[in-house]
Amino acid sequence: MTRVGRALGVAMATGALMVLSACGGDGDDGSEGGGGNEVEVFTWWAEGSEKTGLDALVKVFNEQSPDIKFVNGAVAGGAGSDAKNVLASRLQTNDPPGTFQAHAGAELTDYIENGQIEDLTSMYEENGWNDQFPDTLLERLQQDGKIYSVPSNIHRANVVWANPVVLEEAGVDPTATYATLDDWIADLEKIKAAGAIPLSIATDWTQVHLLETVLLADLGVEGYSGLWDGSTDWAGPEVSDALDDYKTLLDMTNEDRQSLDWPDATQLVIDGEAAFNVMGDWAVAAFEEQDKALGTDYLAYPVPGTDGVFDFLADSFTLPVGAPDPENTEAWLKAVASPEGQEAFNKAKGSIPANTEAETADFGPYQQTAIESYAADEIVSSVAHGAAAPISWLTDITSAVAKYGSTGDLEAFQSELADAAEKNAG
Ligand code: GAL
Repeated sequence: MTRVGRALGVAMATGALMVLSACGGDGDDGSEGGGGNEVEVFTWWAEGSEKTGLDALVKVFNEQSPDIKFVNGAVAGGAGSDAKNVLASRLQTNDPPGTFQAHAGAELTDYIENGQIEDLTSMYEENGWNDQFPDTLLERLQQDGKIYSVPSNIHRANVVWANPVVLEEAGVDPTATYATLDDWIADLEKIKAAGAIPLSIATDWTQVHLLETVLLADLGVEGYSGLWDGSTDWAGPEVSDALDDYKTLLDMTNEDRQSLDWPDATQLVIDGEAAFNVMGDWAVAAFEEQDKALGTDYLAYPVPGTDGVFDFLADSFTLPVGAPDPENTEAWLKAVASPEGQEAFNKAKGSIPANTEAETADFGPYQQTAIESYAADEIVSSVAHGAAAPISWLTDITSAVAKYGSTGDLEAFQSELADAAEKNAG
């Protein structure tokens, strides 16, 4: 079966509604998959600025390994939720790609515990990577002293993107800084009264993303981190207060949210239809691709109440057990880790390099702030992007968020979140 046929079969088997794209032969090299000396790279970076980032990495890979064909196995959409469904089926039927994208942290633990990815500790030793990646990242990649994937980047999740023109038109000072969510909400109300969308958002996973930043703002670093290790009570009054704020914010968002993904929600800010969007810093690539300048065309700062905290996530690449040509996968992993690969990829993707030897002097102004913050801030793990909790827990949180979005029942929402913690906490 061809890759497309196989993916369609999986899509039908899982019953999931998914947009499949670029399955096979969509590399910059114009390659067609289907045998020969190749490596299939499975990601969810299928479109827009995310694909631009992947293409930049592929270019470096092609230079470093001209004899190996890059085969694009990307499955679009949903910050990987659709890709992960397809991947799970492929891994179950012993049909792994050459490599797949996975988040550093708890998401990786799922694959390690299921025996689905190889131990790469010796590659780290042979290539000196233990000295090139920061300890804060290595510790999130490790399990029992072993490392199972190679990070391509570090992203920040707790960022607000704003359109200063929309703010001014609504009588809101674009230079205002907000110490708390309450301060911010007061201005969102002004924007609503002026007729613009105060806060743009998209489908379920972006709502989980917003929720995590609200929990972080209201509970603080310790309280937020305690949600994942059992020391913060999901059924307690602090979480109730945070959910009240989440309700207030969700009520300020665009009604068509369920039919959008993150690029559409960010575009509402770029186009001047919405004042704010909360999104990870892959959003900066969308602004830059459209020649928007930080400070004049758009603003970016930590979600109110989270200044001084870096809500962390990192993408990484694996060597699946049973990968068709492990030596080709290793060549891909070396390109991912290399300073050249990290420079090309991260500059285009909006993230900061995981490899500290990568040159960042010509990165954009937003990225310079992220580099500084990662070094100086307290670091917490993103749940929407696999760092804080295993996939099963995130799936349950996402269902609770989706259900709340249609019922508006806040009490039921909190008890479902508490049940999810009870069921999934390790
Ligand atoms: C995240 C991923 C980012 C970005 C984002 C939106 O999960 O780590 O690299 O792709 O999804 O799709």
